[in-house]
Amino acid sequence: MRKILFVVTCLLIVCFGAFQSEGAGKKRRTMPHEYGNVLINNFSANAKLPPVVFEHWSHRAKFTCRLCHVDIGFAMKVGGTEIKAAENMKGYFCGTCHNGRLEYGGRKVFESCSRQFTNDDAKRCERCHASQKNPNREAEFYKFAENLPKERFGNGINWESAEEKGLIKPVDFLAGVSIKRSTMAIQKDFSLNPKVEGLPNIIFSHKKHTVWNGCEVCHPDIFIGVKRGLTKYSMPEIFEGKYCGVCHTSVAFPLMDCQRCHIKPVQL
Ligand code: HEC
Ligand code: HEC
Ligand code: HEC
Ligand code: HEC
Ligand code: HEC
Ligand code: HEC
Repeated sequence: MRKILFVVTCLLIVCFGAFQSEGAGKKRRTMPHEYGNVLINNFSANAKLPPVVFEHWSHRAKFTCRLCHVDIGFAMKVGGTEIKAAENMKGYFCGTCHNGRLEYGGRKVFESCSRQFTNDDAKRCERCHASQKNPNREAEFYKFAENLPKERFGNGINWESAEEKGLIKPVDFLAGVSIKRSTMAIQKDFSLNPKVEGLPNIIFSHKKHTVWNGCEVCHPDIFIGVKRGLTKYSMPEIFEGKYCGVCHTSVAFPLMDCQRCHIKPVQL
């Protein structure tokens, strides 16, 4: 019975893979420099502008998930925020940082949308409203990834280890946007039992996740987090993009990397 369940799950996984590549209209595997790229296109087409490309890789190297997805308030869903040019111009969403004033790495971060613009400004629009693939960005990615610890899937980068070794230092606080929070005690790592014979348990690390996500990205929206075991989740649900799958299908390392979660025998 358990064996059957396992086979069914694996089949589902294969089907999901096929579905996903068809749904996105592409036949090939996502390349490391494309993993986590988001195409935002609610309003651009109507305004006769190319859609906006947002790269997770370059931003997550600089900022935590929490800063953007809690303090700034981006939805964890493509197009879900419904960002308007006017909001960016008032200093919300992309305009929180892309306001021509905020300094990062000794440079002012370029401004986002504006009503009026000269031909020179148009180059700026194109950095976000990207009419075509920018080969420089691809080269930048591989230059950036070169000296970081490697992984097999996703961006091909072991982000967790890159952060731990101090090779990247994502910022978790922006003056005027974030509020000072009291630090909460971090829960102990725990093991999840996949209930299939022979399948290694999963060690879930609160400590490692909190670095990126604080507490608020996960609790209470993704996991109620009152008592372990209260929420039941299965691999097919995770593949549908629920629970762990909210992040581990599109931005954090993808589900294909079974062994990174199904890792160790019980340890608690
Ligand atoms: C930092 C990134 C960024 C830059 C730079 C940028 N935009 Fe935008 N802009 C966005 C995002 C994100 C949206 C929402 C896209 C969507 O949903 O289609 C948007 C939407 C728009 C829209 C859609 C209509 C509306 O009212 O929301 C217009 C018009 C627009 N931008 C104009 C411009 C112009 C003109 C420039 C250059 C002067 C520019 N933008 C530069 C990020 C940017
Ligand atoms: C600089 C801001 C920023 C940072 C940092 C950031 N994100 Fe995002 N994220 C966004 C934006 C913008 C979107 C698109 C929202 C929209 O289209 O409305 C998005 C979308 C997503 C989505 C949906 C993507 C999809 O393809 O379904 C997920 C999942 C996500 N982010 C997870 C993360 C995780 C995990 C991290 C940290 C490792 C992270 N984000 C860091 C801004 C950010
Ligand atoms: C938390 C701050 C923050 C937010 C929010 C943010 N960015 Fe950025 N972004 C940066 C910084 C910092 C850079 C690096 C600027 C530099 O190198 O001059 C950058 C760089 C970029 C680049 C430059 C890539 C290139 O051509 O070099 C693009 C495109 C971009 N952001 C798009 C967006 C879009 C679209 C949004 C909103 C959906 C957004 N960003 C939201 C901080 C942010
Ligand atoms: C990446 C997502 C994630 C983040 C970030 C996160 N948690 Fe959790 N948390 C979980 C999961 C998964 C569970 C187990 C829930 C379940 O199985 O129902 C959990 C359970 C809990 C529980 C119940 C523990 C138990 O043993 O019954 C508490 C309390 C909790 N979390 C607090 C926190 C606090 C405080 C933070 C920030 C310091 C935090 N969590 C950050 C995912 C997360
Ligand atoms: C992001 C972490 C993660 C990754 C990656 C992952 N799993 Fe899981 N898996 C889980 C969790 C969490 C559970 C549920 C544990 C529980 O029941 O409490 C689970 C459960 C399972 C189960 C038990 C049956 C079920 O539906 O719950 C099977 C079989 C399984 N995973 C197979 C796989 C395979 C095959 C892969 C690779 C293609 C994979 N998993 C990748 C986290 C992961
Ligand atoms: C809110 C987003 C989010 C959710 C939900 C989430 N993760 Fe993660 N997880 C991350 C990020 C970000 C990293 C850093 C590595 C990366 O981005 O590839 C990470 C890293 C990990 C790692 C490697 C670090 C380590 O602990 O050794 C494991 C294993 C993992 N996650 C398992 C899980 C499991 C199991 C669940 C569900 C119970 C889960 N994650 C839910 C975002 C998330």
